[in-house]
Amino acid sequence: MNAAFEDWMKTVQAGSENDLSGYLPDAEVIPAKLHEAMRYALLGGGKRVRPLLVYAAGALFGADAATLSRAAAAVEMIHAYSLVHDDMPCMDDDELRRGKPTVHVAYDEATALLVGDALQSQAFLVLSEATTVPPARLVAMLRLLAHASGSAGMCGGQAIDLDSIGISLTLEQLEQMHQLKTGALLRASVVLGALAGKDLSEQELNALNVYARAIGLAFQVVDDVLDATADSATLGKTAGKDAADNKPTYVSILGLEPSRALAEKLRLDAHAALAPFGEKALRLRELADLIVQRKA
Ligand code: IPE
Ligand code: IPE
Ligand code: MG
Ligand code: MG
Ligand code: MG
Repeated sequence: MNAAFEDWMKTVQAGSENDLSGYLPDAEVIPAKLHEAMRYALLGGGKRVRPLLVYAAGALFGADAATLSRAAAAVEMIHAYSLVHDDMPCMDDDELRRGKPTVHVAYDEATALLVGDALQSQAFLVLSEATTVPPARLVAMLRLLAHASGSAGMCGGQAIDLDSIGISLTLEQLEQMHQLKTGALLRASVVLGALAGKDLSEQELNALNVYARAIGLAFQVVDDVLDATADSATLGKTAGKDAADNKPTYVSILGLEPSRALAEKLRLDAHAALAPFGEKALRLRELADLIVQRKA
């Protein structure tokens, strides 16, 4: 990783942390337990890959900082909500997330359920207040995030995931599950960042979609590889959980080395899709590398 990219990442991550904190109610505001738990779930952890994608895509078309801040926060709130629910006993039943006890362990299940619900609402509230964007484009951004979060996106993927325990999926079914549960929000991050700058032409949207589909799939392929190869301390979440739970993953269906090779191929596909944007796509290219080469 080069020093300029690392500096840029640290700046976006620190800025996002600060912005996210500002977009949440204070922990003392009633109902205090819920607000404290929302802050616990969202702040002080996570790689912030989705905000990084929003900012990197924002650089393509000169999006303003205020809009990028809201778009990045909104998508990270949806992501954090998905993690809180993903970890609950009725889903993956996990006790460790971002190096801390999961929300239902640190608080209780009802609080975890409400934290997810409330973070989802907060996400749309925060994005809806991006008032420098022309109203029609802002509605398009809100619709995009809603679509990516719901049954045609993340929730749909989670439903397929839970229905697939102990089942051997075809590669096509596995790809669809990964594209929905993880790819949809990553794609939304990229397109939201770009839309924060301007209305997109069909060619621009197509190129961004090809990039986003490649990194979206690669992200979950690498998540599956890391689940099988890294340790819990490095990941900040329980390693080896997919095999223990009998989840179909790229590792269980393709094997470890073919999964790594697929992620590398997707990295190159992502780079190729960015060709029309030239130098302005530097950070998006570097993020594709990070997503595939990450160790946690
Ligand atoms: C984990 O996402 C869940 C998946 C979608 C694979 P991340 O790996 O982005 O988790 P954080 O945000 O860094 O904790
Ligand atoms: C979760 O996939 C994806 C979402 C939360 C939408 P995983 O269940 O593989 O995520 P981890 O491994 O628990 O982070
Ligand atoms: Mg899961
Ligand atoms: Mg999980
Ligand atoms: Mg996983």
